[in-house]
This record gives sequence, C-alpha cells and structure tokens, in this order.
Amino acid sequence: MANVKTKWVCQSCGYEAPKYMGKCPECSSWGSFVEETVLPENTKSVKSQSHTDIVEVCKISDVVADKTVRLSTGFEEFDRVLGGGTVAGSVILIAGDPGIGKSTIVLQTAGAIAKSDKKVLYVCAEESAAQVKLRAERLKVNSENIFIYSQTDIDNIKLQIEKIEPDFLIIDSIQAVYDNNISSGAGSVSQIRECTNVLTDIAKRNDITTIIIGHVTKDGSIAGPRVLEHMVDVVLSFEGDKYKTYRILRGIKNRFGSTNEIGIFNMDENGLNEISNPNELFLSERSKAASAGSTIIMASEGSRVLTAEIQALVGTTAYPAPRRVTNGIDYNRLLQILAVIEKRVGLKFNTSDVYVNITGGIEIDEPAADLGIALAIISCAQDVIVPNDVILLGEIGLSGEIRKINNLEKRISEAQKLGFKKVIIPKNNLTNKNYSLELVEVERITDAIVAAINTK
Ligand SMILES: Nc1ncnc2c1ncn2[C@@H]1O[C@H](COP(=O)(O)OP(=O)(O)OP(=O)(O)O)[C@@H](O)[C@H]1O
Ligand SMILES: [Mg+2]
Ligand SMILES: [Zn+2]
Repeated sequence: MANVKTKWVCQSCGYEAPKYMGKCPECSSWGSFVEETVLPENTKSVKSQSHTDIVEVCKISDVVADKTVRLSTGFEEFDRVLGGGTVAGSVILIAGDPGIGKSTIVLQTAGAIAKSDKKVLYVCAEESAAQVKLRAERLKVNSENIFIYSQTDIDNIKLQIEKIEPDFLIIDSIQAVYDNNISSGAGSVSQIRECTNVLTDIAKRNDITTIIIGHVTKDGSIAGPRVLEHMVDVVLSFEGDKYKTYRILRGIKNRFGSTNEIGIFNMDENGLNEISNPNELFLSERSKAASAGSTIIMASEGSRVLTAEIQALVGTTAYPAPRRVTNGIDYNRLLQILAVIEKRVGLKFNTSDVYVNITGGIEIDEPAADLGIALAIISCAQDVIVPNDVILLGEIGLSGEIRKINNLEKRISEAQKLGFKKVIIPKNNLTNKNYSLELVEVERITDAIVAAINTK
C-alpha cells in the first residue's frame, strides 16, 4: 500500500498537528481538527515554481504602480468603504451570513463594471448559470461583457481566467471551490488556503481585480478566517438583519484605505439600493414618542456622522450575580459607566440586571457615546424621560467629569440639519457657537442629568 501521509488541521485557524487534538493550542477552539492528506512533494511545487520564473527582482524606483486609477463599483457606499473604488489587481474578500445578499451586491457591481467597458468573469461555484441569469434579470443586469462560469474546480477556473482575460473576477464562493490535489473536502482550511493562493497569484500577476465571497460560520467568523484574512488586500463584512431590509458593509482590513467606513444599503426585489442619507431613514423608523431608557447620540463613523438610538433596560435581577448585556457597545465600557454612575450619582446597580442596546445593528466604540449610554441607564432606572429631540454627546471620566470629544462641530451641524432642538455637550469643547439649536455645556454627569431631563 502506498504510504499516504496525513496531518490534522484546525479548521478555524489553520494550525497543523501530526495527530488528532481535542483543543487547538493556537486558537483554543474545541473539536476543530480535521484529517487531511499531505500533498506529495512533486505536485506541491508546481504552482510556486511557475511564478518564480515570471516575477523578477527590480528596483522600487522602476516599479510602475498605476494604483491611482480606481474603478467604481457603481455604489458610492461601496466605493467609500474600499477607500474610493477598487484598486486594479487587488483581492477583496466579502464575508457574510447565508442569504444576506452577497451574490446580489457582486452581481450589481459586475453590472456597473461591465458598463465601463471592462470584462467581468463571474464564477458561480454554488449556483448554475441559469440561477445567476434569473437573479441578473431581476436586478436588471445585462451586458456582453459579463461572463458566467459555473465551476468549482480551481484548475478549470484558472484555465478560463487565462482564456477570457477578465479585468474583474468574482468567485462566489471560495468555500465551494476546490483543488483536486488536496484530499480534504471543499471548504476545509487547506482547500481555502490553496485556492485563495492560486487566485491571488493570478490577480496580482495579471492586474485582475478579484472579489472573493466567503461564508461565515455560526459564531460569525469567516470560515478558515485568519488564513484568508492574511492573504487578501481587503476584508469586508456584509451584515444586517435578514428580516429587515437594510444591510451594512463594513471594512475589517484595507490595504488601500481606512477601515472606519461603513456603507449602508436597502434591499428590495430590485436588489440593493444605497442609502446615502442614513440619518433620514433612522428618523423615519424611530418611534415618535420618547420613552424611559432611550437616548439619541450622533456617532462619528469614518467620514460620516450617524444618528443612533441607545436603549437601556434596568431591572431587578433573578441571578446571584446581576447580568450585564451589551449589544453594539463595548462590555467593559458599560461596566465603567455603571461604576461612575454608582459613585458619582449615587444610584446602585448591585441587584439590577443592565442591558444596553444600540438599535439598527450599528456598533459604536467611541467614548463620545458615554453620556448617551449613561443617561439611557439613568432614565430607565429612575423612570424619567429624556425628550427625543435632545442629543447627548460627551465622554465620561472616572471622576464623573464630562470630557471633550472629536468632530463636535460636525455632529452638531448634522443634529441641527435633522431638526433636533437641543444638544448637550462637554464644556469648552466648542469654539464656534453659532447654531440655531440650543447648546447646553456641561461639566459633570450630574449637570448633564439636570440638562437632559428637566426640559419643559
Ligand atoms: N424576488 C425577491 N424580492 C425581494 N428580495 C429577494 C427576492 N429574491 C431574493 N431576495 C433577497 O435576496 C436574498 C438572497 O440574496 P443573495 O442570493 O444575494 O444572498 P447570498 O448572500 O448570496 O446568499 P447565499 O448565502 O445563499 O449565497 C434573500 O435573502 C432575499 O432577501
Ligand atoms: Mg450567494
Ligand atoms: Zn485553531
């Protein structure tokens, strides 16, 4: 019998071991090891050899990098997340839950790219060409420049890329593509790693902008996560509530731009429509009457300011240790804010569960949200209302002082534009006070409570 060597590979981080392991020493996940056959030396070296022949060493001053020309995806929201459109030869990974709209966004992008006279190759590894055609008809995407290829074998895909020579390549999805030389099934770490390797190699050498779609696992990470994230230039996460119609495209890694940007879309039967003014959408969805435990802040997300509602629920606990649950804000930030309220305001939470939620699925990790979070908690605990035309802005220090925040002018201007009546801000944070809405400067958290709650 031939001596077939095997190894065990952790499916969540790619760690390799000679025998089965229950717990991964690298990423600590349990039961993540799968047995895979080690490639014979001769098949392994083929791919790496082929490009050592072609790529030459050259001086950095001689390298021509025409990365200034970025190609638009047809969505301003998408372009902004990418840092101003796609860079030629870059490899972009879009990861998201099943059914969130990954195929939709790439197909619409393919339509826009094809319009600018570029050739697009769409490899649908999960669907038949007819299924993609049906979707394309619904999305009104049609062009001589879009080639559909229903294929899962990476060698065949490679052949077609070489034959068609596209400017733009879409792989939907990487988990469905496999390399015949690797024994483990499609979607395993070894397969994903090898196939992505082949694809990035072709992309870089031929300047093909490549979008790779990846599924996420149940716990929200990209299947074969770390291995994939290192190999590509841009990692974007496509998120949203499947039962609601809006979707958020978020930058996780970007070699060509900031990762602070988010793109917001609305999904209907005609596909994704970008929402360039999300704050108006927010206002139309917000409940008209203010309720105890809810406050509104202006969050700074990349180059934009977004309205966000913070909801808090404080109730008597049924557990020996009271619960603290956060959704969209940092857990430790909540603990710190609670400690400050206990010490500086005198409310006690040692027998209360506290839940804090940012509505609309956005995540906020800036301290400027502190004041809004604190007042949502206080408002619920005391059963008093913060009127819903009031915006709260400010970081809370450990001694209960309200600290200055960045981008204050921008946040106030947006609040004014949206028709809010009053903004509570840190003292001495603002130089130009020329606004038509009421500005209340506060020094301490106790001042902010008075200012927010005693409104008419
Ligand atoms: N006729 C339709 N009208 C409105 N929305 C539709 C229609 N058909 C599909 N959709 C929406 O499109 C979504 C599926 O989009 P898409 O196939 O792009 O998702 P995906 O992320 O690629 O999914 P998968 O994980 O299965 O590949 C559905 O969840 C649904 O919300
Ligand atoms: Mg799909
Ligand atoms: Zn691991």
